[in-house]
Amino acid sequence: MPSETLSTPASDPQTRLEAALRQAIVAVLGPEYADADPVVRPSQNPQFGDFQCNGAMALGKQTGMKPRELAQRIVDAVELAPLAETPEVAGPGFINITLRTESVAELLEAADDEHLGVTPDPDPHPVVIDLCAVNVAKQMHVGHLRSTIIGDALARVFERRDRLVHRENHLGDWGLPIAMVLHQLREEGRDFSTLDLPALDAAYRAAQLGGRNDERGLAAARRLGAGPHRIIELEEQNDSAADTIEAAKRTLVKLQGGDAELDRQWHQLIDCTLASLYDALAILEVKLGPENNRGESFYRDRLPGVIDAFAAAKLAREDDGAMVVPFEDRTRPLLIRKSDGGFLYATTDLAAVRFRAQELGASRVIYVVDARQRDHFRDVFDAVRLMDWHRTPDGVEAELVHIGFGSVLGTDKKPLKTRSGANVTLRSLLDEAVERGTAEVQRRAGDPNAPTHGLPDEELREIGRAVGIGAVKYADLSNDLVRDYVFDMDRMIAFEGDTGPYLQYAHARICSIFSKAGVALGSGRGPALDAKTPFVIAADAERTLALTLLRYGAVVADVGRVLEPHRLCAYLYELANAYSSFYQQCPVIKADDEATRQSRLRLCDLTRRVLADGLDLLGIPAPRRM
Ligand code: ARG
Repeated sequence: MPSETLSTPASDPQTRLEAALRQAIVAVLGPEYADADPVVRPSQNPQFGDFQCNGAMALGKQTGMKPRELAQRIVDAVELAPLAETPEVAGPGFINITLRTESVAELLEAADDEHLGVTPDPDPHPVVIDLCAVNVAKQMHVGHLRSTIIGDALARVFERRDRLVHRENHLGDWGLPIAMVLHQLREEGRDFSTLDLPALDAAYRAAQLGGRNDERGLAAARRLGAGPHRIIELEEQNDSAADTIEAAKRTLVKLQGGDAELDRQWHQLIDCTLASLYDALAILEVKLGPENNRGESFYRDRLPGVIDAFAAAKLAREDDGAMVVPFEDRTRPLLIRKSDGGFLYATTDLAAVRFRAQELGASRVIYVVDARQRDHFRDVFDAVRLMDWHRTPDGVEAELVHIGFGSVLGTDKKPLKTRSGANVTLRSLLDEAVERGTAEVQRRAGDPNAPTHGLPDEELREIGRAVGIGAVKYADLSNDLVRDYVFDMDRMIAFEGDTGPYLQYAHARICSIFSKAGVALGSGRGPALDAKTPFVIAADAERTLALTLLRYGAVVADVGRVLEPHRLCAYLYELANAYSSFYQQCPVIKADDEATRQSRLRLCDLTRRVLADGLDLLGIPAPRRM
């Protein structure tokens, strides 16, 4: 596979320093050190230059050389001109590196086009992102919101680096739960053309409240040592009255047999769920539509083939009429067919991985699903590997990743609930965010000096929606994804601190500098100022801002590699702060001379575009006025 260095941005000084230092390490220590990490980091203190290389510390220990001596020999061997000044050895063996001021300006020049320093990913295979995956006939909950927001952000990062992304909405649209709702609604004599989500929800609950438990099925699952997700699934399937279950099973058989009326009703059920999903997605500006729907039902004809293949490979065995895949390193097997012949959630996922690697050709299949399904994905991935089903047609082994995100908690640190104790629905949460954002924007517009003062109400509402969803998305993405996060609207919506609205506001403030300076803003990622006057990097704050801007391409590449959007959030926050120091210390419109003024306007413009681009990768709109 092509190496990452091929694809690293030419405008990123850190990558270039790393390459040069690695070469020097090889020259000093020999070719067996070709993979040694020179440990190059931006300096914490400008007094130590722009970057520090700390690799000599560990390498000294490894080779028995004094780190300071080794550092000196690396410095003697390294060729950093014309990028940097001659490096200096400091302390016990650090190497301090200062970029030449002219090269900072040249690198900025290279980054100042529509790419902003972002380079294409060298992997030619598509990426699959499994996201959203709401269940038909049930209210969408905040977990689906997280999956959608995180999955969409990751998809945008890959697309930004020119990867083909398949956003797979693995809808829960098949099997007994749906059949139960269908059966229930038919029993109630409902008119299927006037269904809404609350009605489906009620029918789902009514269907579940049927009666006695089917203790036998559950006992069998427990005896088999099924994981928690599977137990819940079986509980869902078995908990209700045997009669209801039997009737629902008959409904399912009829549905699977292609009964025309049932099929129509099933579609009506799906349409109703999807209509409200699309509403929510439009508010969220998430790029998901009917073309992304490949739900459980898509795989229904492939399920018998899954069982047959495992049986033929002797990787599954029968247990009391059921089929299970045993694993060597744990007692709990994976149940892939129930004793009544029914397939499970896991069976569908096995078929789905196979499809995604073998037919879509994806070299990475990324599941953005609640952390509680960790065991499920561990089992599914391991079973897939036993079959070698995770291979692209050109033989590349696909990387299978479950991003198990944490729960959304209320300010009381308990799972988010409404005042009446019900689960918070996705819709109510979005409505609140939009309302709060709009109220904040309208309040600010009351100030006669605000750039939004006097805007038509409709425009203010549009900005308010952007602020509201910016707040929610940023709060979701700016933490380590595996951690639970507290949904605190007051904190998320603030225009100060590490929030979405703060970054949006930083962007809008730069836009208003341009309107004051009478310079039109470009559209898209291209520069606003076409008369290219050179960058002049003189003040410390200018230099810090410039070096921060130069990191953007590497940060985007990094997020795609480690799948951690919070790194992009942290970067954008740092950029906004570097910009704010710059703006306090370096007059732009009132700069001393025209060359400085132009250079600083260009720095503002580049900052604005990187902020807008970075926010866009997070799925957050960047209004020009706030
Ligand atoms: N519908 C499932 C749920 O709501 C999530 C599906 C996730 N994707 C998958 N391929 N299993 O729990």
